[in-house]
Amino acid sequence: EKGGYQWYMDKEIHEQPKAVADTLLGRTDASGALVLDELRMDTAVLRRTDKIIVIACGTSAYAGHVAKYAVEHWCRIPVEVELASEFRYRDPVLTERTLVVAISQSGESMDVVMAVRHAREQGAKVLAICNTQGSTIPREADAALYTHAGPEVAVASTKAFLAQITACYLLGLFLAQLRGNMFADEVRAVLRQLHQMPDAVQTVLDRTEGVRELARELADSKSVLFLGRHVGFPVALEGALKLKELAYLHAEGFAAGELKHGPIALVEEGQPVFVIVPSPDSRDSLHAKVVSNAQEVRARGARTIVIAEDGDDAVLGSADLVVRVPRVPTLMAPLVTVVPLQVFAMEVASAKGLDVDQPRNLAKSVTVE
Ligand code: M6R
Repeated sequence: EKGGYQWYMDKEIHEQPKAVADTLLGRTDASGALVLDELRMDTAVLRRTDKIIVIACGTSAYAGHVAKYAVEHWCRIPVEVELASEFRYRDPVLTERTLVVAISQSGESMDVVMAVRHAREQGAKVLAICNTQGSTIPREADAALYTHAGPEVAVASTKAFLAQITACYLLGLFLAQLRGNMFADEVRAVLRQLHQMPDAVQTVLDRTEGVRELARELADSKSVLFLGRHVGFPVALEGALKLKELAYLHAEGFAAGELKHGPIALVEEGQPVFVIVPSPDSRDSLHAKVVSNAQEVRARGARTIVIAEDGDDAVLGSADLVVRVPRVPTLMAPLVTVVPLQVFAMEVASAKGLDVDQPRNLAKSVTVE
């Protein structure tokens, strides 16, 4: 049932092109326009929404972080991302104009269930983005948008993450269209980009040998750092989480711009640092800034593993190893850049002889608070 793979995780990593494709399936009409009738939420509610709060845990929360960049850009609605376990303890400001988006693969994470209940008690509308039909969170929410990643068995979330980003993007586009922030043609153009992502993810999967080799080489590292910016920041956090949970290795993700405010002091000779470089086309010279962050850590002895687009030669001077991903629009980048990080964590754990699918101390769905 592992389809010839040693681990469910490896199988699920390879199912990611399909997870994205299936999550898009049936959500455009013949003309390429977005249809989300299944949402079954009163469009009046979505029109009057003045704030979105995403609640989720772990990897699902990082999907929310990625979505924040896209949804704010497309819809001009402020988006907050809150860890579900913290949400109700901070007395959040919720009104009937607040849309709470609860993201959960399992639909059973108790922290999220409790946060959903709190939000609804306070009069907010809750939309669940979930991978499991009939689970608690979509049942208790006002509406649900399902990810179609298929069952995820490995404790480490992989294909659900890509599907969650995809579903959040569909929701963002739907809101932008409904509220008049984007013309139907603009929405169609982004949908076309999304439809190209399964192939782009497949291209990354076809090129993982370098990362696998690196993982075997770095298996004895004490700590690994991850740097990213903009949508690459949550990808850095996700890369670090994967390494912690699978390889029991200290790992931290940072916003690259924050480096100089403290974390750079951690860097010493030989410290592995992954740098997720944004596209050279990205706004506000972000690309140049991240490349210079890679140079800064390398000048202090770090061993830099740079994830960069095909053809981006500006990174060559600051990289000990370049991991290439296909060129995709900025907001789509997380769907490709996270894949080498998943493979890296899996391979490090495997090289250390650990149980990749069932890491110690963890459960697939966390049904206690
Ligand atoms: O089922 P959920 O999406 O609610 O689960 C949330 C987290 O427990 C989950 O993403 C966890 O962080 C994964 N083990 C990460 O790989």
